[in-house]
Amino acid sequence: MRRKLIAGNWKMNGDQDLVRRVAEHAADSGGGAEMAVCPPFPLLAAAASQLPFGVALGAQDVSEYEAGAYTGEVSAGMLLEAGCRYVIVGHSERRTLYGEDNGRVAGKFVAARGAGLTPILCVGETLAERDAERTEVVVGEQLDAIMDAVDGPAFQGAVIAYEPVWAIGTGRTATPDQAQAVHAFIRQRVAERDGSEVADQLRLLYGGSMKAENAAELLAQPDIDGGLIGGASLDPESFLSIYNAAAEG
Ligand code: PGA
Repeated sequence: MRRKLIAGNWKMNGDQDLVRRVAEHAADSGGGAEMAVCPPFPLLAAAASQLPFGVALGAQDVSEYEAGAYTGEVSAGMLLEAGCRYVIVGHSERRTLYGEDNGRVAGKFVAARGAGLTPILCVGETLAERDAERTEVVVGEQLDAIMDAVDGPAFQGAVIAYEPVWAIGTGRTATPDQAQAVHAFIRQRVAERDGSEVADQLRLLYGGSMKAENAAELLAQPDIDGGLIGGASLDPESFLSIYNAAAEG
């Protein structure tokens, strides 16, 4: 059985007050599923000290390097020391706005794993790619880049988030069938290279306008093991509702 994971990606939002309110609401989360919160770097310390036991902390990005003259970067070791268990790697906003290609994303994935963090690898196609029926090609290449960079089963113990770019922050969600089809493809692709045991245990999150109103039907799909929540994670009540949908489902 894969334990569902609901992770909040705050992006460049939030402040000390949001940390406090989310921590308060998280105290009402009953277990059953796992909750994680990924605030911006300067809020990690406050979140680490205020989130209730059992709520995991994650970061939104990581350097592919261990240490050195990389102004503005944060290493995986630093994130671990700050209390992080997870780190988002290859979010589409990093790929499109900051030019992160599959090679750089693979470097970050390897660095995160090497330090003992659990990477949440984001994959997903643009609307043009979906319309051209290239979803599986694009997502397949994003997965292969990671599996090519790692000796042995790359996704053992990792998390993958399928986030169709056209659904992120747009209010337009993939239908449960559309999401399930890509999730099944991802699990199959991982099984081919990493083996079926790794693929069966791998948690696959859906991301892209997941909210309290649509969470339950997405989470009911057999290959959807949780959500990576952007906008709705900034409202502690909505975030808790989504979590409860996962915990009860
Ligand atoms: P959204 O963002 O829930 O606001 O669509 C999801 C994400 O980008 O991780």
